[in-house]
Amino acid sequence: MYPVIEKGVVTAEHVAAFKTILGEAYVFADEETLNNYGHDETEHLLYLPEVVIKPRTAAEVSEIMQICNRDRIPVTPRGAGTGLSGGALPHLGGVLISTERFNSILEIDERNLQVTTEPGVITEVLQNAVKEKGLFYPPDPSSRGSCFIGGNIAENSGGPKAVKYGVVKDYVLNLEVVLPTGEIIWTGANVLKNSTGYNLTQLLVGSEGTLGIVTKIVLKLIPLPKYDLLMLVPFNSLEKAGEAVSAIFRAGFVPSGLELVEIDALQIVSKMVDSHAVPVSDDIAAHLIIEVDGNNMDVLMSEMEAIAELLQQYEAGEVFFADDAQQKTELWKLRRRVAEAVKTAGYTIEEDTVVPRAELPALIKGVKELGRQYNFHAVCYGHAGDGNLHIRIKKEGTANSMGNEEMTKALRALFDLVYKLGGTISGEHGIGLIQKGFMDIVFADANLRLMREIKQVFDPNNILNAGKIFDLA
Ligand code: LAC
Ligand code: ZN
Repeated sequence: MYPVIEKGVVTAEHVAAFKTILGEAYVFADEETLNNYGHDETEHLLYLPEVVIKPRTAAEVSEIMQICNRDRIPVTPRGAGTGLSGGALPHLGGVLISTERFNSILEIDERNLQVTTEPGVITEVLQNAVKEKGLFYPPDPSSRGSCFIGGNIAENSGGPKAVKYGVVKDYVLNLEVVLPTGEIIWTGANVLKNSTGYNLTQLLVGSEGTLGIVTKIVLKLIPLPKYDLLMLVPFNSLEKAGEAVSAIFRAGFVPSGLELVEIDALQIVSKMVDSHAVPVSDDIAAHLIIEVDGNNMDVLMSEMEAIAELLQQYEAGEVFFADDAQQKTELWKLRRRVAEAVKTAGYTIEEDTVVPRAELPALIKGVKELGRQYNFHAVCYGHAGDGNLHIRIKKEGTANSMGNEEMTKALRALFDLVYKLGGTISGEHGIGLIQKGFMDIVFADANLRLMREIKQVFDPNNILNAGKIFDLA
């Protein structure tokens, strides 16, 4: 039987030992800190850790893990706390390890187009640092201004550029990891090709802090494209907008961003940031935000025109081209702040569905039907080019899906539909705490058994982020 980890096991002796390792200043047990680290961006969930610690080196993390492993103390690793699936929630209490002091970019290797960084660096800070050297690290979730690169690795994040440039896993070459036993390893090598044994690097990417704590990261970079163009296209039917998405690729274009935002979401975010950049009217159901990038402006202009013309077949309205950097920034700001805005407006439950791109219209239609059936209101937005639809749900009197019988039923129906369409339940936010009850929809018993056995190999005492992704019993 797999060890079941218990709550309430941190003693005064443990706290004293952590202080000896880290120094008094980096061990916290006061109410305010415990509250601050007890939530992330997932629904309205709060689980207090027993102690919050802020190590600075892999060696310190290793010493901490050895103590926790010896005494079976639950450990929750945490980046910036911007996650949407509860991966960083300390639902078993115990020790919360914040990576915020791992905040240095260690080396930008311009000869090899690589960067070595610590996990507590803000994604946008990393992007800007490599941009100064003419280099590009594309994966940037909407929260790029506050999320950590380490959290992005834990969740295998995507973001709007993924449609052309891929997601985090496509850029991770090598990781330094502290294992739950306290051993410190490098998972691979700083090379672009690697057929040397099992791919531990990729196993760690997206493992949601359940297999090890990443303390150094080597990422691949690419040359920064010189130009980009952006346009906003209104549609009077959400499904038509969905149909237009796959038509763009079938016609031979690969935009560097292809986002969909339903009108309700755009109205809410425009109001929140007090922007009039985007025209909203009653006959508009949704917008596509389309970006192309590259090194030849003439080519980009003709691509944009061709895409705009193609979209007329899908009943697109008047196309708005962002003329200058300011308009582009404004438009992306609106898009990036949708999640925050709709949450503030009461859409607290967020799903991260993904289907094969051409099934997007069927998914959108299904979501609306389920809303009527289960009595919730949903707004859809997200990375339409990837078939990755974020569905934000508002249901009167229900802030959380977690532990709510009716919402759980509705979500099961939604995920059944997603699975029937050939999709899966998370594209970029992870499973964490809130989606684990739905894993049986998309995986056979054998898949889940393999995952549990992998967890056991890495973490024999089940101390590290236990009970995330799947239950162990
Ligand atoms: C977004 C985040 C929520 O796409 O994934 O805005
Ligand atoms: Zn997203």
